[in-house]
Amino acid sequence: MVKDIIVENVSKTYDSDRGPVEAVKNFSMEVEKGDFVAIVGPSGCGKTTLLWGLTGLHPFTSGKAIILDKIVDKPRQSVGIVFQQANLLPWRNLIQNIYFPLEIMGKNIKEYKSKIQDLIKSVGLDGFENHHPRELSGGMQQRASIIRALSFDPQILLMDEPFGALDAYTRDEMDTLILELWEKTQKTIVFVTHRIEEAVYLANKVYVMTARPGTNSAIFNIDLPRPRPEGITMEMRYFNIVAEIKRKIVEDVEKQKKEGKYKSQAYSTIT
Ligand SMILES: Nc1ncnc2c1ncn2[C@@H]1O[C@H](COP(=O)(O)OP(=O)(O)OP(=O)(O)O)[C@@H](O)[C@H]1O
Ligand SMILES: [Mg+2]
Repeated sequence: MVKDIIVENVSKTYDSDRGPVEAVKNFSMEVEKGDFVAIVGPSGCGKTTLLWGLTGLHPFTSGKAIILDKIVDKPRQSVGIVFQQANLLPWRNLIQNIYFPLEIMGKNIKEYKSKIQDLIKSVGLDGFENHHPRELSGGMQQRASIIRALSFDPQILLMDEPFGALDAYTRDEMDTLILELWEKTQKTIVFVTHRIEEAVYLANKVYVMTARPGTNSAIFNIDLPRPRPEGITMEMRYFNIVAEIKRKIVEDVEKQKKEGKYKSQAYSTIT
């Protein structure tokens, strides 16, 4: 199997006014081409730090990450990123927002147009190309930001709690949508979320991080059918996996507390 992403013992320590903050410690991960991997862990455990490290924008303090056979040392066209907030430019309409990365990269937009139009259609945004962000719902804005991330056709999509700011109903809709998009485009997706339910519904593999400093706790292979059958999230086999992962996180936190190593202030994972 081709490994699109190899993460070897990466650590990240921030310098802050209150001294060094060890955010991630010796985290390792491997992601196969076309796989859908989720990363979960207690609040503040270093999920965003890890993902930013993979973008090449914020280097790790030690360890190494390899994406598509290249050491991650700068942002590359092979990686698209989606954040919790859509961050669309308010003065640009939807299609201008989607073309924005291509403009920055100096690409010939004509070459990407038909693929982008196809993606716009598949997420139900056709007809809204000339709308400005303020005229779009939160879910529509986030759909636009996903298409923006895919505009230059990266093989890898890194997503950091992309639906965290949306209401529960829209979030579920977006989860279904991202699976459809994944099945259609065959991208390799790394999806960070604090919602275990979402991770189990979406991913083939769930990496659990411990509380800060985030390190490897466990890997769960999600043995649920593809495409996900309708109503799977109401089924016992789904609940059982969710419960197993939640139990593991609680166990980790209890262990860290016992050893006096638990550093997260907020612990909102088990909801
Ligand atoms: N620039 C920074 N300077 C100092 N400390 C930081 C910085 N960025 C993050 N941290 C700290 O590093 C730790 C990990 O932060 P990070 O945002 O990666 O966690 P997270 O798992 O994404 O959290 P959340 O669940 O809230 O999204 C936290 O304790 C945070 O306070
Ligand atoms: Mg985060």
